[in-house]
Amino acid sequence: MKISSAQIRQKYLKFFADRGHAIIPSASLVPENDPTTLFTSSGMQPLVPYLLGQKHPAGKRLVNSQKSFRAQDIEEIGDNRHTTFFEMLGNWSLGDYFKKEQLSWIFEFLTKELELDPKQLYITVFQGNSSVPKDIESIKIWKELFQSVGMVADENERIFAYPAQKNWWSRSGEPDKMPAKEPGGPDSEVFFDFGQNLLIHEKSRYKNEQCHPNCDCGRFMEIANSVFMQYQKQPDGSLQELRQKNVDFGGGLERLAAVVNNNPDIFKTDLYISIIQIIEKITGHSYLEKINRPPMRIIADHLKAASFLIVDDVYPFNKTRGYILRRLLRRSAVKLYALTDKTPQSEMFNEIASNIIQTYQNTDYFDPIIDLPKISSVISEEINKFGKVLAKGIKMIEKTDSIDAKSAFDLYQSYGFPIELTAELLEQKGQKINLGEFKDEFEKHQNISRTASKGMFKGGLIDHSEAVTKLHTATHLLHTALRKFVGTNIQQKGSNITSERLRFDFTQSTRLTDKQKQDIEIWINQQIAEDLPVTRTIDSLSGAKAGGALAFFGEKYGEKVTVYTIGNEKTGIVSQEVCGGPHVTRTGVLGSFKLGKEETVSAGVRRVYAFLKPK
Ligand code: SER
Repeated sequence: MKISSAQIRQKYLKFFADRGHAIIPSASLVPENDPTTLFTSSGMQPLVPYLLGQKHPAGKRLVNSQKSFRAQDIEEIGDNRHTTFFEMLGNWSLGDYFKKEQLSWIFEFLTKELELDPKQLYITVFQGNSSVPKDIESIKIWKELFQSVGMVADENERIFAYPAQKNWWSRSGEPDKMPAKEPGGPDSEVFFDFGQNLLIHEKSRYKNEQCHPNCDCGRFMEIANSVFMQYQKQPDGSLQELRQKNVDFGGGLERLAAVVNNNPDIFKTDLYISIIQIIEKITGHSYLEKINRPPMRIIADHLKAASFLIVDDVYPFNKTRGYILRRLLRRSAVKLYALTDKTPQSEMFNEIASNIIQTYQNTDYFDPIIDLPKISSVISEEINKFGKVLAKGIKMIEKTDSIDAKSAFDLYQSYGFPIELTAELLEQKGQKINLGEFKDEFEKHQNISRTASKGMFKGGLIDHSEAVTKLHTATHLLHTALRKFVGTNIQQKGSNITSERLRFDFTQSTRLTDKQKQDIEIWINQQIAEDLPVTRTIDSLSGAKAGGALAFFGEKYGEKVTVYTIGNEKTGIVSQEVCGGPHVTRTGVLGSFKLGKEETVSAGVRRVYAFLKPK
């Protein structure tokens, strides 16, 4: 590649740092203390409070490369452009610069830094609706930008206006779909035209018919999205201007690498190519053969996503995040089986995982010494379990002429086939399964309450409800209490809060004793009874640590951080943590604290649940 993906990432961060942006680290794929969404799926997600007006400790101009995961794209994987895991290059103006600067910088970055030919770039803007006008300002700016490189950029030839389905961005889509409080706005996208090259690279629906940038035929690839995030949905359904006009830019690193490579197959970029080569070696098949490409892409994508998820402490499970991870691993196993006709061994997976870590050696996403053994052990356990029944399950599906919900449930129950996988394998044979009936069957047998996981998908929004905020403050007290009564070496490994309960993972290999549990509850309830103040300050990370604040996710924070302190010099400080908030302002409102069940998450990590009851 003319410019490597590592160089693209580096150039982008430097370009915006040179223009006054603070480089902020990538947040975890598992959103911290956000019960409403399963995964971080865009760079703006961890920044929503700041887009809505909260002051960001690092200032008004931010830039980063955010690891992102979109579970909803699982079914799409196999073509040349979709992945579940991707890195999103993002820059933000929090009520600072707006359209003129943003569009000029992006044009400069694409054409000067990445040396893309402006003739291959096409632009889309928002055409307006009943409450928001057409974005003529962006059209004017784009015309001037193309003019500056000697090109005439006319509407419907170089610049295209689209309705909200295409050129409006919020986490839940177009304005009608936005729930109250959700921020969003019109956007302007840049598309790269692969033109006739496409025909030699990949079969596409494009056959010189009337085609336009946003038609999804495969000729054009979206590489940059500048969202002018200036509206917020109101409870009455209207859109109101936010107090600050924000810019939220996102561009997929994998796609930028593909256009720099002038090849629309992102699996041919240096972010995937060596992973594909390992898969070729293991399976003895060639990626040059078209029939092998979809399964190879699925394996490469799924194992990359799985490796990133495991590092962020997601473990295979039968619900929510863990279920998605399980699906990724088991689907990869089925694809490996299809390519080799042999039960895949965990060693194969580990060889691929090791290569994935190598691919990211110039980033701080993985620590090879700690993370490779961790990824290997999680994958091995899952694959060894599934491998034993994989061949039998596949044979059963092959033999079946028609499958009813009950047999599909048996496949799930006896062979561990995620239902989506069974449905996919059946579809390859031209059979369909009634997912609704399967779910009824599932619920009949398992009687699993799905309320919690349903709630998690609700709009994918940050819920800063009162109940969640209270439990968040209680989590800080629990953290202190564990260190006080169990061991000062205890470290937080994860936290998850719903409006009903908190869940806290921490380093510890043995069960809490009854005495420890009692001490923890009594102490926390005392802190609540004392109605201690909770205050928020901004400090440098080193200053915060020197002042005694706990900051276990050290590398994930930027230079300036927010610190929450429970208690003060007068009452005594009982907790001080680097944390994004929000929290209650006094502990007195928490009610009564009670510990719930405790379990093992993995070797050396335990999980405890807790509740708050009104007094
Ligand atoms: N939030 C927008 C996106 O995800 C731009 O960052 O495309």
